[in-house]
Amino acid sequence: MPNYSTNPDLAGFCVSFGPKNERTVITAIGQDIEKAAGHLLAGEVVAIPTETVYGLAANALNETAVTRIFTTKQRPQTNPLIIHLPGIETIDRYVTDIPPVAQQLAAAFWPGPLTMILPKKSIVPDLVTAGLPEVAVRVPDHPLTLNLLQQLDTPLAAPSANPFGYISPTTPAHVQNQLDGKIPYILDGGPCRQGLESTIVGFRDGHPIVFRLGAIPLEQLEEVVGTTLRVQNLEHKTPVGPGMLPFHYSPHTSLLLLERVEAAFADYSTDKIGIISLSRSFEQIPAAHQVQLSPTEDLSEAGQRLYFAMHQLDAMGLDVILVEKLPDTGLGKTMNDRLARAAAKRE
Ligand code: TXA
Ligand code: MG
Repeated sequence: MPNYSTNPDLAGFCVSFGPKNERTVITAIGQDIEKAAGHLLAGEVVAIPTETVYGLAANALNETAVTRIFTTKQRPQTNPLIIHLPGIETIDRYVTDIPPVAQQLAAAFWPGPLTMILPKKSIVPDLVTAGLPEVAVRVPDHPLTLNLLQQLDTPLAAPSANPFGYISPTTPAHVQNQLDGKIPYILDGGPCRQGLESTIVGFRDGHPIVFRLGAIPLEQLEEVVGTTLRVQNLEHKTPVGPGMLPFHYSPHTSLLLLERVEAAFADYSTDKIGIISLSRSFEQIPAAHQVQLSPTEDLSEAGQRLYFAMHQLDAMGLDVILVEKLPDTGLGKTMNDRLARAAAKRE
């Protein structure tokens, strides 16, 4: 194992080994794209900003580096990763076929929070796709990360930068709280603009199917393709494929998703209840334990703040977080899907 602390190109990155031979590193935070690129070219893992959530990135074509993503996140290797590209111009290097409707979707939404699942070329390691013949691809919409991707000339594999099963990070501080000492660098792009993961679309016989609801509302996709879309991942109790686990996105505190949060007030002591609602407040519960996601009931603002609110309340040592169901349209559908997973028990 090289000693990175003596490499001037990687100044500030120290590796040491703890009593159980665990690898520890010093995590730096900054906006230095060259530094991030240096770590990535050396096969290290770096947290990167995107418009959706922070990603835990590594060179997608370097299997050792990709393995580090799985170990850092403690994520099973049966769960495939998204590769991030600087633009659609390079996509031909990695996929064999782009159906016309996929081209239409790319033109409408890239750079942006759309991930498409397409047949892969052999240059994409099987480790990235968990052995599947298709690879998930997206062009993220964040200036720092687009700049980084252009400099690297290699795609970045990146899942959300949270330990497996936990809430996705939407600020550099969330990443640091969860992964400090495990990665050398967090590229600081500020708070994520969307705050919800990308919408995932796959194709069967050239027809699009939504595999994960996300930051692009279903209605917007349907407008572009001109048909109603099938959603194959709403049933959160039944995993439909690798990674579609029922208990994703969970805080450590128990979380209940309710039509009306008052229904559970009698079951807990009021000073140990946290509440997330779209706009309602409750005088029985301490104001500091409540988050109104958007007082004007704007679902984009609510989406941007949802994970932030979950991180915030999860750090308060409460007995329960009660979340009031959002309106079941547009981004409200995406948020209800995530919250249902967050509420599912790890059985
Ligand atoms: O917004 C996002 O998509 C963020 C940012 C960092 O880009 N990334 C993200 O990655 O949410 P992750 O790994 O947390 O979720 C990716 C999902 C997983 O559920 C995975 O199983 C699915 O995409 N996926 C990836 N490759 C796939 C494939 N070849 N076939 C089916 N599902 C796939
Ligand atoms: Mg994730």
